[in-house]
Amino acid sequence: MSQKVVLSRIISVDRARYNETEYLTEALSPAVEALRANQPVGMPTETVYGLAANALKSEAVQQIYTVKNRPSDNPLIVHICGAEMLSGLVDPAFLSQRDSQVWRRYQNVMDAFWPGPLTILFPAAKEVPVVVTAGLKTVGIRFPSHPLSQALIHQAGFPLAAPSANLSGRPSPTTAHHVLTDLHGRIEWIVDGGSCAFGLESTVLDLTISPPVILRPGGITLQQLRQVLPDVVAHHKDNKVDGVDESRPATPGMKYKHYAPSAPVLLFARRSPSLDAVENSKALLPAIKAYVDAHPSSAIVRLTVCKQTRLEPREGYREIVLTEDGDLATIAQRLFGALREADEQHPDVIIAEATVEDAEGMAIMNRLSKAAGEVLHYFD
Ligand code: TXA
Ligand code: MG
Repeated sequence: MSQKVVLSRIISVDRARYNETEYLTEALSPAVEALRANQPVGMPTETVYGLAANALKSEAVQQIYTVKNRPSDNPLIVHICGAEMLSGLVDPAFLSQRDSQVWRRYQNVMDAFWPGPLTILFPAAKEVPVVVTAGLKTVGIRFPSHPLSQALIHQAGFPLAAPSANLSGRPSPTTAHHVLTDLHGRIEWIVDGGSCAFGLESTVLDLTISPPVILRPGGITLQQLRQVLPDVVAHHKDNKVDGVDESRPATPGMKYKHYAPSAPVLLFARRSPSLDAVENSKALLPAIKAYVDAHPSSAIVRLTVCKQTRLEPREGYREIVLTEDGDLATIAQRLFGALREADEQHPDVIIAEATVEDAEGMAIMNRLSKAAGEVLHYFD
């Protein structure tokens, strides 16, 4: 489908006035009008920015794929602003079994983590367009906690399908400016809700199978989910998970090149990393330093995770600070922005350090190893 060129504009919203209904209605009205006209809009969420459109209208959702250059077999997450919006999206036969054990599991998970960075798979109602589910029998639904996503859904009056608002394959956007960089000329309105609080995408949870499986690690950790769902397991390509068809990628989106800056990412990793990112970074420093010294004529950008292991910048070598103290939540929050910033320097290579695959580190490592094309360099 051909893409019409439009003037892209950012809607700035005063954070101090998020709870003033009249002000928000007025501020968001151009974006809501565009959504009603089946046009996709850049929407802030607490995870990453989304490219939102009316989830119940095929022609609106189709625009998302066109704008992003997204493969059409990759389903979209539907965003709602309250559990009452589930009807119309979820199979009514399933919704009617509210006293079943299965429903109780859903209810407990929703009560614990919604609104928030958790996408839950439900059996889909037949009204959900095929372009949303990519023909799957399930639909991924999320109730975001960002006040502006809630306000947009509420004012539009319909659920919003929204993938991350990057061009397909690029790191997800965590500021309105990132969205503008990727999609200028392709969408008219981007709502600016500041920097995303989590910075990585939501956790995608398949609750339709037993045991429940994390298909994509994200804002809610395995440990947090275990408190409500003791049997939940993390999908891992190397681990057999009971009840999961191994021939099928965890989520259809996982098989595509992702989060990738233009420059190759070299990921330095320990074989047995510690939970402490500072300790890992200290252990990796000799190998990183040796690499940098061995490539004096390469342009190298390194993402650093603590102040203890920083190196002197020199011609052709510079560092982008993710965090001074190894805090995993801060690394997660800054990672995509740092990959974009690194890319803007047009380096020959970007160096990153692996974290432990635990807590927030599970999502960080999932994104980092994809950005690095799965190539890990192990150093003990
Ligand atoms: O935090 C997020 O989830 C962000 C914000 C905007 O909400 N959205 C996001 O969407 O990351 P996207 O499209 O970039 O990633 C959605 C992931 C894909 O890997 C997709 O394959 C998977 O969720 N997914 C969606 N519906 C699914 C389904 N019914 N079954 C399995 N996987 C599904
Ligand atoms: Mg995405």
